[in-house]
Amino acid sequence: MKKIIIDGGQSLDGVIEVSGMKNSALPIIFACLLIKEECVLDNMPRVSDVHNSLEILRQMGAEADFIDAHTIKINTKNAQNIYFDMDLISKMRASAYLMSSCLSRYGSVHMVYPGGCNFGARPIEQHIKGFKCLGASCTEDGEFIALSLSKRLQNVKITLDKISVGATINMIIASCVGEGTVTIENVAKEPHVLDLIAFLNICGANIRLFGNSIRVVGVRSLNGKRYRIYSDMIEALTYATCVGSAKGKIYLKNVDYEHILPIIPHFEKTGISIKYKNGFVCIKSPEKLVSTSVFTAPYPEFPTDLHPQFSAMLCFCDGVGEITETIFPERFAYLCELEKMGAKFKKIGNKVEIYTSLLHGASLDATDLRAGAALIVSALGANGRSEINNVNYIVRGYEDIVPKLSSVGAKIFYDNK
Ligand code: EPU
Repeated sequence: MKKIIIDGGQSLDGVIEVSGMKNSALPIIFACLLIKEECVLDNMPRVSDVHNSLEILRQMGAEADFIDAHTIKINTKNAQNIYFDMDLISKMRASAYLMSSCLSRYGSVHMVYPGGCNFGARPIEQHIKGFKCLGASCTEDGEFIALSLSKRLQNVKITLDKISVGATINMIIASCVGEGTVTIENVAKEPHVLDLIAFLNICGANIRLFGNSIRVVGVRSLNGKRYRIYSDMIEALTYATCVGSAKGKIYLKNVDYEHILPIIPHFEKTGISIKYKNGFVCIKSPEKLVSTSVFTAPYPEFPTDLHPQFSAMLCFCDGVGEITETIFPERFAYLCELEKMGAKFKKIGNKVEIYTSLLHGASLDATDLRAGAALIVSALGANGRSEINNVNYIVRGYEDIVPKLSSVGAKIFYDNK
């Protein structure tokens, strides 16, 4: 596949339009299996995980296509084929949402384990525990998983042992159609979870968040509606890290500012300012940044999906920065690539200390989506030319990242050779 080439050292100036949020678009696409009518979804990001999810629905017999640049139409009325293309499923973490949507719609599902970015173990025992609380039976053989549920139990309480975005989403999808009330405790409250809840409620569901619990009062059926996906907070904040490494000032369009608000203080500690004005978010970096320390944790704390990009930005800050990864303790593969550019760091368990480094261009390999984004961040601020391989990881979650950055002055382009 093509490579991304970056000539570092150009400061950024201009406007970038942020796309819709991948991590809520995907569960919303799969939740359409609960609705046997047409749904129209706006602000849909054109990223490969979305294209693959639509392909899964089409293979099931649904209509699922882009009808406009960022609008899709889904109608799952005729979706009857539940023999999936296992290769496609094993590529994507979000295929985990087939478990709940198929259990609710067809009463059973048989599939390979969901795939996704490879940064250590991605267990699903909390999902299984929740499905069992709802009355499902489950068999697993290490490669395939089979679930069946003839009648969802009524008035159930599910307490997740760990805060999990995927398990929270799966429990919501599995519970919203049926009789009785399901209470899910110790839930994830990421904006993507709230986006799914807002979509399902518009379609007729009765789902409410109370503190750390979600109460789902079952309804008989859902109706097809038009809905706009939230904007992608991780994409927006990735561009903030690009401004930190390359310097300059950019304006972001189409940002749900309230979602990024809790994360802004971490940027401000380095000297970067992020302010909302007249529908735009202005991100400005001074010439000199100072390092800071963050630890990742469920929202509204610092997101694990921003860790590699923030870490790359810390190389350009004065002093010693620190990142402690509490969600995916092995999410550090990007460090070997930064080292090729001259980055200095010390990794101690699930923590990395990042020292001020003068980075130079190098040939780099993206190892997963956010690790790939981190290489772009570092290459933008480095001296000389970098080339980034394995671009397929990056396009899973960033729509048009190359033209967007190029439009604000970065020297970045695809090498199709
Ligand atoms: N966990 C368990 N058991 C489970 C489920 C999760 O131990 O049954 C653990 C995980 O190992 C991890 C923690 O709980 O330590 C949180 O995992 P979570 O379930 O929240 O992650 P996920 O649903 O698999 C989603 C996003 C990830 C994002 C995480 C955390 C999607 C498709 N994926 O994954 O996004 O990092 O939540 O916010 O929504 C990305 O976009 O780059 C990405 C990897």
